[in-house]
Amino acid sequence: MKIKALNGFKDIVPGEIELWQKVENTARDIFARFNFNEIRMPILEKTELFARSIGDSTDIVEKEMYTFIDKQITMRPEATASLLRAYIQHGLHVQKPIQRLFTIGPMFRHERPQKGRLRQFHQMDVEVLGTPNPRVDAELMAMGAMLLEELGITMSLEINSLGCPICRPGFRAALLSFIDDRKDALCEDCTRRSKTNPLRVLDCKNSACREQVAEAPSIQEHLCSECDKHFDAVQEGLKQLDVQYSLNKFMVRGLDYYTRTTFEFITKDLGAQAAVGAGGRYDGLVAKLGGPKAPGIGFAMGLERIVLLLQQQKEPVDSTQIDIFVAGLGEKASEFSFPLAHKLRRKGLFTAMDHEGRSLKSQMKQANKVNARYVLIIGENELKQGTAVLRNMENQEQQEIAVTSLSTELPSIILPHNTGCNPV
Ligand code: HAM
Repeated sequence: MKIKALNGFKDIVPGEIELWQKVENTARDIFARFNFNEIRMPILEKTELFARSIGDSTDIVEKEMYTFIDKQITMRPEATASLLRAYIQHGLHVQKPIQRLFTIGPMFRHERPQKGRLRQFHQMDVEVLGTPNPRVDAELMAMGAMLLEELGITMSLEINSLGCPICRPGFRAALLSFIDDRKDALCEDCTRRSKTNPLRVLDCKNSACREQVAEAPSIQEHLCSECDKHFDAVQEGLKQLDVQYSLNKFMVRGLDYYTRTTFEFITKDLGAQAAVGAGGRYDGLVAKLGGPKAPGIGFAMGLERIVLLLQQQKEPVDSTQIDIFVAGLGEKASEFSFPLAHKLRRKGLFTAMDHEGRSLKSQMKQANKVNARYVLIIGENELKQGTAVLRNMENQEQQEIAVTSLSTELPSIILPHNTGCNPV
């Protein structure tokens, strides 16, 4: 029997990977424009890190983590907690009072797999640590919107404020009393949540629960004056940057660490998994994890969801292009081509060659398949005469080149298409 990948775990194969590369390259470019530095963390962390940051009574910590019970370690379900752990461990706040960091990588949650929801999924995660400034909230949302826009993805931005430890208890009490009057009409999950994490009742997907909470008190009416001022300034910033948004008083997010601003980038095109990205402010979290009193804000976007949206648009993607295909015909020519291809690669040319002794026709087919810009044809006769034929695959023009000067002449004729590599 063939062994297949685990349910909810996916290979990303050539043909699909090009879209991933396009998304990641666009993201890296935009993160650099906004002055972010990359950071990479390990996949395994102490279980306690996530319990303390995401919250004991969240779905993620209660049900979805891949935890090795005997070792008390967990495969990270998200990047924020790990990134903050690394920030604290390496004293990054000492190096720079405001850190702007991003990371891209796999995360693990034991959820029920469906379209756009996997057990191993990938996030592009950005965090700004060390400033409470509401302009940063607006700037981050504008950056997320810019990234999606540059990728050609249509989305809407929904925002909310979850207040702070000063004003949230008042809201929680008002909400609890509202829920208490309707508790018999709520689903089982919400009845349980109303005891552990009542705010989550607001974003239950069950239609009966939604009806019940439609008139629930709004957190926005319970914000203290500092949180209110902050939320106004965030919205002012979004307006200045021309970012469209709408208020969603039901957005509470599934992680406990948020304070003040929360937001989600929502698409209509992915069915139930509507959030392409999400994030918010977490001003108490760094200190809670043993670090300095540094406020923070960030968001993460799901790569699988973005790639699905691009696939639905059926946008053609550039597949890898080869600069030159070296077609050696016969044993002697192949032997000559083998080190020549290596020299060309050294000089920065994307080079392919055949190792199977195939015919010219079959090698030309291979060259077309890899989108070769040029083909170098070296037959036994040509080799004897000391020349090889270079064919330009775009205009079919051919020229003869002395075999002794191939590795020096070819790079200057075929300037590498990758601007990062110049001929040496
Ligand atoms: P989150 O809402 O749990 O937030 O996840 C962020 C994004 O990751 C989602 O909007 C979605 O695109 C993607 N995602 C989450 N779970 C899955 C899954 N099972 N399969 C596919 N994609 C998924 C966080 O993780 C926070 N750490 C975001 C953040 C950063 N907040 C502040 N900084």
